[in-house]
Amino acid sequence: MDGNWIAIGSIADIPLRGARCVKTPQGRIAVFRTAEGEVFAIEDRCPHRGGPLSQGIVHGRAVTCPLHNWVISLESGKALGADEGAVRTVALRNEDGALFIALENLMAAAE
Ligand code: FES
Repeated sequence: MDGNWIAIGSIADIPLRGARCVKTPQGRIAVFRTAEGEVFAIEDRCPHRGGPLSQGIVHGRAVTCPLHNWVISLESGKALGADEGAVRTVALRNEDGALFIALENLMAAAE
């Protein structure tokens, strides 16, 4: 593994259908764990008005924003249904339960 991945803790720290917010130099990243135990990382900032997606409700591979109920895909970062907009997705690696996100991608996306 190269130096551009940053360790963000264990999958066990994230409840099923829950999320954690990770602060990085490139902003807050929400790391979600689905009911099936899959993990996804996206920007913790709703494309509507910046709501904290890490505090939303996870269902399937999507999260409902706690502010005005937009539904955001955890896979694509795109708003689903009639709403339009997207958040950045962040590459995430799961090494036997130890989670890493790709800081380099974050930097590139932030430029
Ligand atoms: S800020 Fe997320 S739905 Fe409005």
